[in-house]
Amino acid sequence: MKPNNLESLWMPFTPNKTFKKDPRIIVGAKDMHFISDDGRNILDATAGLWCVNAGHGRKKIQDAVYNQIGELDYSPPFQFGHPKQFELANRLVEMFPEGMNHVFFSNSGSEAVDSALKIALAYQRARGKASKTRLIGRERGYHGVGFGGISVGGMVKNRMYFGSMLSGVDHLRHTHNPELNAFSKGLPEYGAELANDLERLVQLHDASTIAAVIVEPIAGSTGVLPPPKGYLKKLRELCTKHDILLIFDEVISAFGRMGTPTAAEFFDVTPDIICCAKALTNATIPMGATVVQDHIYQSMMEHADAPIELFHGYTYSGHPVACAAALASLDIYKEDGLFERAVDSAKHMQEVAHSLKGTKNVIDIRNMGLIAAVEIEARDGAIGARGFEVMKKAWDLGVMIRANGDTIAFSPPLIVENNQIEEMFDVTKKAIGSIN
Ligand SMILES: Cc1ncc(COP(=O)(O)O)c(C=O)c1O
Repeated sequence: MKPNNLESLWMPFTPNKTFKKDPRIIVGAKDMHFISDDGRNILDATAGLWCVNAGHGRKKIQDAVYNQIGELDYSPPFQFGHPKQFELANRLVEMFPEGMNHVFFSNSGSEAVDSALKIALAYQRARGKASKTRLIGRERGYHGVGFGGISVGGMVKNRMYFGSMLSGVDHLRHTHNPELNAFSKGLPEYGAELANDLERLVQLHDASTIAAVIVEPIAGSTGVLPPPKGYLKKLRELCTKHDILLIFDEVISAFGRMGTPTAAEFFDVTPDIICCAKALTNATIPMGATVVQDHIYQSMMEHADAPIELFHGYTYSGHPVACAAALASLDIYKEDGLFERAVDSAKHMQEVAHSLKGTKNVIDIRNMGLIAAVEIEARDGAIGARGFEVMKKAWDLGVMIRANGDTIAFSPPLIVENNQIEEMFDVTKKAIGSIN
């Protein structure tokens, strides 16, 4: 017998059985709202999955995609080029920190991360440091779902089902310390010294075996963990001291989430490699990018085995339609001043988010840039149950929020209005109040 019309789809990161009994179906989207199949406007408090930064249904992107398909629908990225991928690479390096001048395209955050890890290893070998093969991630990190990403990642469920993953990986401790930092507004005060964990790993493995450290400048999927004050600067110093590459996974933080093109700029810390995706195309067409410093690219060009310097790439690297969507998205961010706008909205969101302090079961509230999180206490023996119920209730009340376990995350499109920020948190408060 054929499965019914919902059963034939195996949904990602979704409790399929529960969902299919009570589905939430989205049939349209415009600006700050989704439209559900029962005709309701649902306020998008998450920019989809941290990705629709310019809001939904942008005509400029729609036109760019339509025109591109008519002009050049596809061209192979190996051994051939097309103008828009060079144009986009140029636009990106203009926006990215000084010295980050070379872009490798892929199709997702996961691929941008795996590309970064492979580039790090190939670079170390090319410059004669072939013993530097170890990759260091961080507990509670999320770097997508490729084998590289889950190996350096630190979220237990994303790792435990998938065997031994990559060998030669170790992890820094995470920076979350609610005992000292609960209800911090902006960056938490305590924990910069946790960057010294890298010294511990250097003592254990020796720097001559370590290729790269990868962290999210602000951890998102694990439940929004802003870095303690001074932590990232310290990590940069230690990487430089030990000749280890520093990779920032900016899949959620790039393109205005912090009010700047990258979190690197916001924190004034320049890594060697930045991974981005998501808002690069305003999520209209899948695309990822790995942006590297001059010294990495130059070293590969000079020392890697010729003629192909990097044996890596995807059928859809720099896809012309994705490039067109990205160029239009970058235009919108600039023309509409969305990054600057995010700075003001972030201030309002900080105040509104923290006004939920004292609400039943709320044990922490965190925020940074246009990102906020409200953590509720887990129900005994049922971690994540309350978070899931709050998410469902908010959907019924007309707001899409995201539950990461028992942490409710907010990352609205950068076009959000102040009254919509208030609505997001009013509804969340009601939803939290309505469950036991
Ligand atoms: C920091 C980070 N890295 C990587 C990824 C993976 O991106 P994708 O789902 O596009 O593969 C995500 C997705 O949320 C992310 O937040």
